[in-house]
Amino acid sequence: AQSVDIHKDQIIFSEGDAGDCAYIIEKGRVLVYISKDKEEIPLTILGEGEIFGEMSLIDNQNRSASVRALEDVRLAIVTKQQVLERVSTADKVVQLLMRVLLKRLRRKNLNTPAGTKMSEVEFENSGAGDDGTQGALDQIKLENQIFQAFQNKEFELFYQPIVNLKTKQVMGCEALLRWNSPVHGLISPNLFIDVIENSSMVIPIGHWIINQALKDLKTIQDQLRDAKKTKLADDFMMSINISGRQFTHSDFVNNLEDLREKHDLQTKNIKLEMTERVMMDGAIALESLNQCRNQGYAISIDDFGTGFSSLQYLTQMPISFLKIDRSFVMKVLSDPKSKAVVSSIIHLAHAMDLEIIAEGIENNEESLVLETLGARYGQGYLFSKPVDLGRFLKLI
Ligand code: C2E
Ligand code: CMP
Ligand code: CA
Ligand code: CA
Repeated sequence: AQSVDIHKDQIIFSEGDAGDCAYIIEKGRVLVYISKDKEEIPLTILGEGEIFGEMSLIDNQNRSASVRALEDVRLAIVTKQQVLERVSTADKVVQLLMRVLLKRLRRKNLNTPAGTKMSEVEFENSGAGDDGTQGALDQIKLENQIFQAFQNKEFELFYQPIVNLKTKQVMGCEALLRWNSPVHGLISPNLFIDVIENSSMVIPIGHWIINQALKDLKTIQDQLRDAKKTKLADDFMMSINISGRQFTHSDFVNNLEDLREKHDLQTKNIKLEMTERVMMDGAIALESLNQCRNQGYAISIDDFGTGFSSLQYLTQMPISFLKIDRSFVMKVLSDPKSKAVVSSIIHLAHAMDLEIIAEGIENNEESLVLETLGARYGQGYLFSKPVDLGRFLKLI
């Protein structure tokens, strides 16, 4: 559940309980209190936009107080993981500050005198929206909504062909995520991929993406073999987008290998697409890259030219493909400077023995210019938009 409704006077949790989640108040007011000698000592009243139940998650101790609904309330749930993810990536000094503040607050609570009345405690209501609370609430709700959609199996992979620009023959495809929302229809990943990549749900969702793409790769190859297109089946490449957090996760390569073996596939038919930033993400990334390359996976740099483009890493990274970003392809006809950049990228790639894929080709003129400049492969609406597996199978 993403939100819960609690009736007036219901206890949400009690002092001393183990904490498993925090709450943001969407509607209504709650009382925070502690008990001493069977007497209830009120600490504060919290209203809309306030968060509570966060302390025990951050300092991993029991609930510092009890919380009861003063009226019917609606609470958005913030999971322990959502809190810890943010705390653990915070600056070390900020973490220290939080620990100190929590210790002081716990001590202050213990010293609150008995006999304090409800009318004497402050009503805390920072007012949703004034100080980023609303933003935080929206963020948490969006995260929850996306994960719920994933669990409801509303995610689907679409496939866009990658073709040889000269022969127009399909050489492979890129798997692209879609959210098939029963409410909003088909939603583009641009609207939600960042939320996934910035949270630990990228691990289960990323795992699902790889599994689905590999399963569909098997189907594609089987169909090609049935149609006696043996060479195409043997060489067909499935490109999978891999995000930073997913790639540097400790089990990435092992999980990938497990899935590949499960679907009885060869590494040479699998291409991992990553941005420069992901590849440059420290020693772990480099080690995983080398591991993947040694196993025989193809590695492709996505959105090339838009990152920080330190060319140094090109000499160190085990890369086999370079994908020219759509922003250059778009302007290749109209802007001589973009054309010059594309041309240099292609020369550079050839000198380093890398294959080029030009992304976002929308018309024949672009296709021709890129081919003339020396790009071997292309992808874009000219050849096909991303389509579901059924349509992709008809297309090849
Ligand atoms: P990307 O990896 O650069 O993918 C290419 C995007 O360009 C896709 O958008 C594709 O549909 C679009 N495209 C291809 N040809 C054309 C064209 O000719 N014209 C135009 N206007 N667009 C074209 P899409 O599918 O909306 O994906 C957006 C981004 O979301 C991707 O950019 C990628 O960064 C991310 N993404 C998509 N699927 C996944 C996934 O499974 N995992 C991860 N980590 N990221 C994904
Ligand atoms: P937690 O310790 O998880 O559970 C009880 C919650 O009450 C605690 O997190 C805070 O969110 C809140 N709380 C505890 N003490 C105070 C206080 N003195 N003022 C306001 N809120 C408090
Ligand atoms: Ca891509
Ligand atoms: Ca791109």
